[in-house]
Amino acid sequence: VWLVDKNVEDQKSCTHLVDAARLVESGELVAFPTETVYGLGANALSDEAVEKIFVAKGRPSDNPLIVHIGEKTQLDAVATDIPVKARQLMEAFWPGPLTMFLPKREEIASKVTAGLPTVGVRMPDHPVALELIKQAQVPIAAPSANRSGRPSPTTAQHVMEDLTGRIAGIVDGGNTGVGVESTTIDMTVEPPMIHRPGGITLEQIQQVIGEVAIDPAFLTEEEEQPISPGMKYKHYAPTGDLWLVSGQEDEVKAKMLELLIEAKEQGLTTGVMVPKEHLDYWNNHALVNLTLACGSLASLEEVAQDLYTDLRRFDEEQIQFILAETYPREGLGLAVMNRLEKAASHRIIKA
Ligand code: TXA
Ligand code: MG
Repeated sequence: VWLVDKNVEDQKSCTHLVDAARLVESGELVAFPTETVYGLGANALSDEAVEKIFVAKGRPSDNPLIVHIGEKTQLDAVATDIPVKARQLMEAFWPGPLTMFLPKREEIASKVTAGLPTVGVRMPDHPVALELIKQAQVPIAAPSANRSGRPSPTTAQHVMEDLTGRIAGIVDGGNTGVGVESTTIDMTVEPPMIHRPGGITLEQIQQVIGEVAIDPAFLTEEEEQPISPGMKYKHYAPTGDLWLVSGQEDEVKAKMLELLIEAKEQGLTTGVMVPKEHLDYWNNHALVNLTLACGSLASLEEVAQDLYTDLRRFDEEQIQFILAETYPREGLGLAVMNRLEKAASHRIIKA
């Protein structure tokens, strides 16, 4: 683990980054901070290096990776046939939490894209990430640096929990900023389609390119859907059983109490995750073993920053039954709710 201060003006002089870059260049895996979450990086031009990512994460090999570039001009070395709208989004949001799917160049290892003709590209807004890519002199393929299925890492400590002994090194640049992953958008279809809501909001994208399609998969709000075993899609999930409770404030509180009583009757350890405005009520509550604040009703940015750390904390304390409040599906709330729903296997209870 190399400690690197992201506030240092001149990252170039950092010998740790030079060491980390040499490892990437030579085909090893290095975890590094971005403005969203930590990434697990490998040389995107080498199938052999990229293969190691799938092994270290336990990731299915049909799930493609995002390629990270250090400057906008590097885009043409990764993708071809770049439409005008993609250039417009790049100018508006790079460096930043937006990933665009574009036709892939042959030089990009086929393992990166899981054999797909398109490649996801982004330029991260983090001085340490940018300098690492520049020093490595190759584009860096990087998924989030968690074991597959676990919440994404927002600190180097999280990466250590998941990947110690499986990778060559971690560049520790402190907490990431945004806290949820980049927005992904397919630029090869018209209108372009958002597949994953993230750090750049739908509203921001619409302002630049107008009409945008949305993958219907992340807009449906299901209620108490019984889940057949084969359909159970666990992602970003804590080990404990997570349920979301939505509705009007007093009714949410009443519903949560009712569910917590049931859980306690079954002898389960319990946790609640609420915006900090509701913390006082649940703190030291007899029915709850661990109460965590997840951001504030006044700031979805804070919610996004707290989310993955909170989900991991429930695991650390071995909480078996967890209730979380929901957030408005606007701005960053769309990304927050998408991650929460997946973590809860889409179990939402209407209070
Ligand atoms: O913020 C982020 O995007 C972080 C940091 C490290 O950059 N990375 C990240 O990567 O979240 P990952 O692998 O955890 O998520 C990438 C998502 C996956 O759902 C993957 O299936 C999708 O993007 N993806 C990547 N390339 C794709 C492609 N060519 N076509 C369709 N989906 C793609
Ligand atoms: Mg991921």
